[in-house]
Amino acid sequence: MSESLHSDKLPRGEEPQIRVMAMPADTNASGDIFGGWLMSQVDIAGSIAAYRRARGRIVTIAVNEFRFINPVYVGDLVSLYSRVIHVGNTSIRVMIEGFAERSRGTDECDRVAEAEITYVAIDEQGKPRPVGDSA
Ligand SMILES: CC(C)(COP(=O)(O)OP(=O)(O)OC[C@H]1O[C@@H](n2cnc3c(N)ncnc32)[C@H](O)[C@@H]1OP(=O)(O)O)[C@@H](O)C(=O)NCCC(=O)NCCS
Repeated sequence: MSESLHSDKLPRGEEPQIRVMAMPADTNASGDIFGGWLMSQVDIAGSIAAYRRARGRIVTIAVNEFRFINPVYVGDLVSLYSRVIHVGNTSIRVMIEGFAERSRGTDECDRVAEAEITYVAIDEQGKPRPVGDSA
């Protein structure tokens, strides 16, 4: 895993790529937030960074690393930060970090996930296309 983008504190003053509240519908059979829900939010946050860099359609090709660091609870406000860390010919590697602001009326905030995902820029036929030098 690449070096973390942020310390364990919620990066105040920096807007997350997405912010979403964990809802009862996102729980598993035990009543805890389903890991797949968080993976999906992480992928969305990563894809936005990749899409902007590719200036067009992209697909997820690989989840290189994914770590669930702390649980997410119903009512938590989850902020996801993402940053492009490597650009190849057609691929874009993105680091994503998630923080949960707890819903218990405190300032408590925990790092909940870290991931590194690779996206590929694709053309109209769904084939890889060069990302180019566009920033
Ligand atoms: C993404 C896709 C178009 C790539 O097609 P492909 O012909 O296999 O592409 P290539 O082998 O040329 O690889 C494309 C890039 O991905 C990289 N790549 C391939 N496999 C990879 C892997 N396992 N991990 C990281 N990067 C990988 C290659 O290094 C290459 O990067 P570069 O051009 O920057 O050097 C094709 O695999 C695909 O459509 N996959 C399904 C994607 C999808 O539907 N995702 C959502 C799932 S619901």
